[in-house]
Amino acid sequence: MGEEREDEIVWHEGDMPFSTRFGDHFYSRENGLAETRHVFPGGNRLQARWQGADDFKIAELGFGTGLNMLTTWQAWKASRREGQHLTFTSFEKFPLDGETLGRALANWPELTVEVAALLAAWPNPKPLKDLVVDLDDGFQLQLMIGDAADRLGKWNGTVDAWYLDGFAPARNPDMWSTDLLAQVFEKTRPGGTFATYAAAGWVRRNLQVAGFTVERLPGHGMKREMLAGTRPA
Ligand SMILES: C[S@@+](CC[C@H](N)C(=O)[O-])C[C@H]1O[C@@H](n2cnc3c(N)ncnc32)[C@H](O)[C@@H]1O
Repeated sequence: MGEEREDEIVWHEGDMPFSTRFGDHFYSRENGLAETRHVFPGGNRLQARWQGADDFKIAELGFGTGLNMLTTWQAWKASRREGQHLTFTSFEKFPLDGETLGRALANWPELTVEVAALLAAWPNPKPLKDLVVDLDDGFQLQLMIGDAADRLGKWNGTVDAWYLDGFAPARNPDMWSTDLLAQVFEKTRPGGTFATYAAAGWVRRNLQVAGFTVERLPGHGMKREMLAGTRPA
């Protein structure tokens, strides 16, 4: 393995970012973009729910490279009507620097326009405090820097759909704890949802204990299962 960078990212198979701090990839090695779309917008049934929503709120645990946000923004642009607005709030403790972000996101030529807009707004070398940016008139990114548990406890947002993306539960159990998932539940609008690639039994139970109705759905590609769920109305 090469020398570790300050942000503890190394590159596998060319341009696939890997966190040495957590011992995990930022997205699936096979086809990150297809998996992201399947799990997060797909698991939260966003296309159907967006149709009637004037002001939709997504929140994410783990911004990482921004891939989830970028593909969501692209899908939103393609489906929204005039006047509809989406806020995407993401909680991130270890923001990447712009160079790392650019290298990782160069994997997705389908997102060239969206990636360029994110990189143009990205502080150099990296965001050290919260970043709020209108990526266009109908889409705002709110990046909350710090530990998710700390930040979420003090945050008074209400969420329609959660993306739970904090590295594999076995490698980063803090992002899947009962306390944190209870906060996620508390910030979810009745009828609101979450989705995650995680399928571990203890994560499912923590989500149920928090109050969600949890479903096991087919995972992407070779992955058998993923989880999605709803806060009962
Ligand atoms: C799997 S990556 C997220 C991938 C990302 N959603 C994307 O689209 O590239 C998990 C992220 O969670 C962040 N993270 C890990 N522990 C955290 C914590 N306790 N609070 C906030 N963020 C955390 C990591 O720094 C990493 O960026």
